[in-house]
Amino acid sequence: MKKVLKSVSRILGAIAVIVSVFLIYVQISYKKEFDVPETGIRASKDSSVIARGKYLVMGPGHCWNCHAPDGETNLQSGSKVGMIGGKEFKLPFGVLYSPNITSDTATGIGAFSDEMLAQAIRYSVRHDKTALVPFMSYNGMSDDDIQAGISYLRTTRPVRNKVKENSINVIGKAVVRFVLKPVFSDPAPRASLQPDTTAEYGNYLATSVGNCVGCHTRRDKNTGEFSGSKFAGGYQISVSDGTFTTPNLTPHATTGAIVNWRPGDFVQRFRTGAVYPQTPMPWKSFQTLTDNDLKALYYYFKSLKPVDNKVIVFQQKVPN
Ligand code: HEC
Ligand code: HEC
Repeated sequence: MKKVLKSVSRILGAIAVIVSVFLIYVQISYKKEFDVPETGIRASKDSSVIARGKYLVMGPGHCWNCHAPDGETNLQSGSKVGMIGGKEFKLPFGVLYSPNITSDTATGIGAFSDEMLAQAIRYSVRHDKTALVPFMSYNGMSDDDIQAGISYLRTTRPVRNKVKENSINVIGKAVVRFVLKPVFSDPAPRASLQPDTTAEYGNYLATSVGNCVGCHTRRDKNTGEFSGSKFAGGYQISVSDGTFTTPNLTPHATTGAIVNWRPGDFVQRFRTGAVYPQTPMPWKSFQTLTDNDLKALYYYFKSLKPVDNKVIVFQQKVPN
């Protein structure tokens, strides 16, 4: 019996040593660098390119929704604050802070090259070549639109604001070391895409610019992977007074949220903006979408295969 106990404790001891060596390894090596292809995308000073970039950043791309601390009420109305970062994202493995993306050289993106910015957007790789936690889903954005976006960022007023460092626990560091990697869009991104009202352009907006797909698709709680049919809703987002479940945007006869809407109703719904005060949907940004972009989205959703998925959009927390 004693012998058995002795060897058990030896095995446990060995495991403890292996685990601590592993943890130390993760601790010191979790910042893994990746080499991704050059995009060759460079900022432009052309005013029409910058105007397109402003539209994308403020509207469909809704960048300020995450990169400005007071989100909803911020930049649309011409606030002076800017996309100074610092918005908190609490994850099971730590707390992330969105970076300052104003053109400040010390605390923003002013000192990053165009290539670094383009690679962050296209491949989800940070300026220091480590992988970003995939909050952004612009990997399929066209060369021209990435160029427009970064051209506009270059024109923003520099604001000095040092954002807190991400604080990641040891599980998070293991995730960073072994799970996070650059994202490659499939199909490969296009060089250029002309805006029009087709379902094809709507697909581009919904998938590679507005991230409608990221919220309007059910996802695994732990991995964030899609676990339901795309655009059929069912993703849950908790807010302080309840839980939102995203509506089904496919044209299902009884459970599709927009199945009975005409194109004009869809446009009008976006002009109206948020109905639920705490909704996470970036209505403020999307209110600025052109009629044509909204129609493209509408025709795209109408072209999808109907999926039966009934959701209750908002469930109020029961007060104790
Ligand atoms: C859903 C929230 C969200 C949206 C929307 C968003 N970002 Fe981000 N962004 C983040 C977070 C969070 C990080 C940092 C992630 C990390 O630390 O791993 C980040 C990182 C970045 C970086 C990397 C900075 C570096 O150090 O290399 C750039 C550049 C950037 N965002 C630009 C943009 C632009 C441009 C848009 C709009 C087209 C945008 N972001 C929209 C959340 C968002
Ligand atoms: C950050 C998450 C998020 C993103 C991104 C998002 N949505 Fe939503 N959306 C929601 C939630 C939550 C609701 C339900 C609450 C509400 O109506 O505001 C919703 C509701 C809707 C509705 C139903 C409105 C109604 O009155 O029945 C439509 C239509 C819609 N979204 C379309 C879109 C489109 C188009 C995009 C992309 C351009 C998009 N959403 C991006 C979260 C999101």
